[in-house]
Amino acid sequence: MRMYDIITKKKHNEELTNEEITWMIEGFVKGDIPDYQMSAFMMAVYFNGMTDEEMTNLTMAMAKSGDMVDLSAIEGIKVDKHSTGGVGDKTTLVVAPIVAACGVKVAKMSGKGLGHTGGTIDKLESIPGYNTTIGREEFFDIVNKTGLSVIGQSGNIAPADKKLYALRDVTATVDSVPLIASSIMSKKLASGSDCILLDVKMGSGAFMKTEEDAYLLAEKMVEIGNKAGRKVAALITDMDIPLGNAIGNSLEVIEAVNTLKGQGPEDLTDICIELATHMLLLADKGDIDTCREMVKDAIKSGKALEKLALMVEAHGGNAEYIRNTELFDKAQHTMEVKASKSGYIASINTEQCGIASVVLEAGRETKESLIDYSAGIVLKKKVGDYVNQGDTIAVLYTNNCNKLEGACKILEDSCKIREVQPEKRPIILRIINKFLKS
Ligand code: URA
Repeated sequence: MRMYDIITKKKHNEELTNEEITWMIEGFVKGDIPDYQMSAFMMAVYFNGMTDEEMTNLTMAMAKSGDMVDLSAIEGIKVDKHSTGGVGDKTTLVVAPIVAACGVKVAKMSGKGLGHTGGTIDKLESIPGYNTTIGREEFFDIVNKTGLSVIGQSGNIAPADKKLYALRDVTATVDSVPLIASSIMSKKLASGSDCILLDVKMGSGAFMKTEEDAYLLAEKMVEIGNKAGRKVAALITDMDIPLGNAIGNSLEVIEAVNTLKGQGPEDLTDICIELATHMLLLADKGDIDTCREMVKDAIKSGKALEKLALMVEAHGGNAEYIRNTELFDKAQHTMEVKASKSGYIASINTEQCGIASVVLEAGRETKESLIDYSAGIVLKKKVGDYVNQGDTIAVLYTNNCNKLEGACKILEDSCKIREVQPEKRPIILRIINKFLKS
């Protein structure tokens, strides 16, 4: 087989066989296929797409390029959740403890922040002592004892994706449905859970800018997962405004804790309840109303919050920070972003909010950058709110005062104020769940 012929076939929009795809991925991981040929191939996929069969074969080849984690040492059904990435997305910190409090195990591997989007691992590492790099035996042990564990993804989960993603990032081939679907699903299938709930984001802060594209991506990922024998469902959710009010690591942990106390922002609370409900549905805990009641009860009773504290403790973290969030360090410098005129907030560009939080050092400019865990943004107003000129729209936090002016300008530019109140949009836009019982 020759890579040249595989590129030519894709260029002419011909279907590749499983043997060709597997040979290509194995060769790329071994280093036999150079980056320039793989880049040409991915650009051909970007323009010509892939058939469902090709996409499934590519996903499986990528998943099998490293460890396929066997979670059978953990008793019961294991449910995973994955968000396609957003700004202010701290749902895992809320949803995983809720689901565990309802008796379903969550053994989850998460990532660090990517570009303008935050990552669960950075948020967890903002809790003093929390170790995200424990070994597999300890991971299984914690899930068996507490019902949940969230750790960093080990280097050998889908190594083909790691190499491909780095190349896509610099060859303008990230935003391709078959490439995103295979990238995400290869890691999820390799991570071993029985059921997977996908939170596919759409809007100005997401990879998918329109509902149609997000639906197409969700449909493909669900199909790939179900074909691989897992129970997979997806919610398509709004990322046209940041989720909740807090952006930045410890600020988001605090907001997640407040949400588990039943005192979170409405959009974050609503989305977490629906995500947890669909995870319980996948785990066969009952019909949708029963599952939703179980979720609400886990919050009201305080059981979900206690699960988060237990997980933090099991990972060597100081659970006192969960019980009393006043203990988190506060950033030394703050600045208020003011409304430039009176009117309704018509839009806030979410990607720009993410970029402003990176400027404040809540995220990484380069892979080597150190994160300021207390840095970030707290939004005081959201889309649809009325502001008078000079009202505070957001508060910026950082330990590097040189960063405040730049971040403030980005945020001011990202916020559009108009005379007419915009229509309220639902946070859950569509649901793909063939296991839904009502
Ligand atoms: N997240 C991933 O893991 N892969 C993509 O391609 C996009 C988002």
